[in-house]
Amino acid sequence: MNTVSTMGPAVRTLLAAAMLSLCAGAATAQERFSLFVPSAQPTVERLVKLARIQDNDVVVDLGSGDGRIVLTAARDNPKVRGWGVDINENLVRQSNEAAKKQGVSDRVQFFHRNVFDADIRDVTVINMWLFPELMRLLRPKILAEARPGTRVLTHLFDMGSWQADEWDKEAGSAVGLWIVPAKVEGYWSWQYTLNGIPFTHDAILEQRFQMAEGVTRAGNRRGLLQNVRLRGEDFSFSLEMTLDGVGLTRHDFAGKVNGDQIKGTVKIAMPDGKNVELPWTARRTVTTAYFRPTGVETK
Ligand SMILES: C[S@@+](CC[C@H](N)C(=O)[O-])C[C@H]1O[C@@H](n2cnc3c(N)ncnc32)[C@H](O)[C@@H]1O
Repeated sequence: MNTVSTMGPAVRTLLAAAMLSLCAGAATAQERFSLFVPSAQPTVERLVKLARIQDNDVVVDLGSGDGRIVLTAARDNPKVRGWGVDINENLVRQSNEAAKKQGVSDRVQFFHRNVFDADIRDVTVINMWLFPELMRLLRPKILAEARPGTRVLTHLFDMGSWQADEWDKEAGSAVGLWIVPAKVEGYWSWQYTLNGIPFTHDAILEQRFQMAEGVTRAGNRRGLLQNVRLRGEDFSFSLEMTLDGVGLTRHDFAGKVNGDQIKGTVKIAMPDGKNVELPWTARRTVTTAYFRPTGVETK
């Protein structure tokens, strides 16, 4: 076991560099590689700050080392719970002893476990500082299992092509925050009535991490979703579209994604200058009418 918690920043930087250089050679042993380099305490404070930890958050550290990140979060907020997993049994024992000593063992526990076996379904904040390859290997697990809105934090390294939602690059190593996006990719449909006319939208959403794009069809008209924003479960977009029998309208949709449903409101600016606000419920569909033949009629 390496115990470098007492080493100075220069040594820590060297070890971080060693972590980077070992990445290439350690590919086959990657999953079980257990070099322990503790995050410097100022970095831990910045990680906790960037996570904007609130009461009732469940803060975890995948590869928790001496437990300092979860212990710091629990020290700062007496309502926070947390846990960590580490492949190094000695570090797990030390971390549990520290939790006891600091009087937080009822809220904070550490387990001897591989990060890939951690149950992250009910957590709200995930810290990890592992080899970049290891974090990249964990990325699908996080995106598949963590709840939308879960905040993921690391420093120095990144998450490959999953862009950070925020970076704190002030001092020391850059600290990043990624927010697990809801899954919106696929076919969706919703209805509303305007001026007594019922409309059905058949939309197609495409998604890569938190970046989403989309198109929709109402009757024989199609429109592009614009200003699409996905942050956790919060999803919004605007749409300018002519609706038959109504005219050119501007829509602002905003809602929360919950599995196969999005619930929220749509504000519609009507051609006569009036604004209408309606409840909006979109449902995921297996097939879509978006591709139905359109015909050659022009109006
Ligand atoms: C760079 S240290 C980070 C420690 C702590 N998170 C921090 O920031 O201070 C990485 C830690 O991950 C642990 N680790 C590495 N591979 C792991 C795996 N596959 N499963 C669980 N823990 C692992 C190591 O034992 C080590 O304690």
